[in-house]
Amino acid sequence: MIYNRRQFINFLGKASLGTVMMPQFLISCGNTTTPTKAFGSISKERLSLLKNLNLQALAASNKDDLLLTNGLNYHTIIKWGDKISDTESFGFNNDFTCFIPFNDDNPKDGLLWVNHEYIDPLFVSGFDANKHENSTAHRTIEQVDKEMYNVGGSIVRIREENGVWKMVKNDSHNRRITAKTPIKLNWDYPIKGQSTVIGTLANCSGGITPWKTFLTCEENYDSFFGETVYTKENNAKHVPSYAYGWEQFYNYPPEHYGWVVEVNPKNGMAQKHIALGRFAHECCTLYELEDKRVVAYTGDDKNDEHLYKFVSSQPGSLKEGTLYVADTVNGKWLPLDWQNQPILQQNFKDQTEVLIRAREAAKLIGATQLNRPEDIEIDPITGNIFVTLTNNKPKGDFHGSILKIEEQNGAFDALTFKAETYLAGGDENGFSCPDNLAFDMSGNLWITTDMSGTSMNKADKPYMSFKNNSLFVIPRLGENAGKVIRVASAPKDAELTGPWFSPDGKTLFLSVQHPGEQTKDLNNPTSTWPFDTDRIPKSAVVAITGDIIEKMNMLNIIESR
Ligand code: FEO
Ligand code: CA
Ligand code: CA
Repeated sequence: MIYNRRQFINFLGKASLGTVMMPQFLISCGNTTTPTKAFGSISKERLSLLKNLNLQALAASNKDDLLLTNGLNYHTIIKWGDKISDTESFGFNNDFTCFIPFNDDNPKDGLLWVNHEYIDPLFVSGFDANKHENSTAHRTIEQVDKEMYNVGGSIVRIREENGVWKMVKNDSHNRRITAKTPIKLNWDYPIKGQSTVIGTLANCSGGITPWKTFLTCEENYDSFFGETVYTKENNAKHVPSYAYGWEQFYNYPPEHYGWVVEVNPKNGMAQKHIALGRFAHECCTLYELEDKRVVAYTGDDKNDEHLYKFVSSQPGSLKEGTLYVADTVNGKWLPLDWQNQPILQQNFKDQTEVLIRAREAAKLIGATQLNRPEDIEIDPITGNIFVTLTNNKPKGDFHGSILKIEEQNGAFDALTFKAETYLAGGDENGFSCPDNLAFDMSGNLWITTDMSGTSMNKADKPYMSFKNNSLFVIPRLGENAGKVIRVASAPKDAELTGPWFSPDGKTLFLSVQHPGEQTKDLNNPTSTWPFDTDRIPKSAVVAITGDIIEKMNMLNIIESR
């Protein structure tokens, strides 16, 4: 179902307005915040601010540039290859960003986490897959080592001075986590004989914990070390990686990847949370209950895979508790609990195996297949949960949609819920393939899109009219309420990812990922953004500032005076 504008406004705003929904940890990190008054009664001051907002939609564009609508500017904070210290450099293909200030009283100085999702060998290691029939063969160990360094994540201290965010080079917090970093498993049993594994990779989106650590999610892990699949007789079989073939040099088991990883910003210590299951995690969005137990929502970004939530049984634990998977048809959270599910006992030897093979276990207990669940965000006004379903081309869903989950009685640990489509991608709403979501401090919804580089701007594909990937906002109030408004257009072949607001609501951090991804010859790249003198396209994290971001976030502050 596609909502018209009027229905849309009602839809976003109908729940118990004025109820404080959002946990304090999200508020203080500027991810979203909580209005203290009903949106239903808009003050005169607020209305006049909205009137003067002058938010104009940017036209779709195929230009090789980061274009922004009037009233917005950007500057680059950091890009691929930049030295963060004398010994470490910023990785490739930046995705999720998360900023945590050192001090709640100073929103302009803190630590930025950035995911590095995957690599393009042509740029990173000089391996030209187009010259080899088998793209996973023929690399040297030196090339693979370079590739392993360029995934994972970066921690960098950033500071804003005179309106410009800059990395503090050589700050003692600056560090890299890579595919070579030893990482502990937060579990009582070893996996494939190890309790500490090597590296994190495929880090797509992520989240933040109430105790102010970063979460980074391992998504398409099978491109690096392959995957273990099971025959009808339940015999394990290794299927080689389809993209990189690292297993030819390093014999690391696929079971060590596909987890949610937590990173301590202060010292870089990382751990993998086994209890949250193993699959292509896009993100992990936490909610802290009153008794300090946590609820973690996380989706499996693969065609026909599932949406999960973990509910902890102990305060602040991402280990003790139950992992559920969604039956969105009947509105039920189904427990992936070996102890109490005979069908799981018949197919797996213990709970550890259920978690490692979560996809199979989910199907056995009746989980609903979804169209590639990507990002998940909690509406700060209503507490409803929004999940992007980016597309499912084999099933004829080319443009995706956004799913809304309403937990029973608004309880995040409820076992039943209502699910319905909130907004569909396509020509009518002007966007296709929604990926990341962010609510700002006033509850406006920001959406980035991820049409694939091989499909964008191609006359024979259904994406032609949308041109380059973009950033959109859906204002909650005012004359544009409910409209899907394009506010940024990405450079060629790029997607915009990792939207994250600074705690004062004055900056939107955003990743520009994989400009020039379709390049076949480095001397003739398809993009040259960010227009360095070497003309090599580079992923970068930018700070978007300006009147529109400030005013949209300010609405909440004025309202709560
Ligand atoms: Fe890496 Fe699901 O986007
Ligand atoms: Ca994504
Ligand atoms: Ca995506």
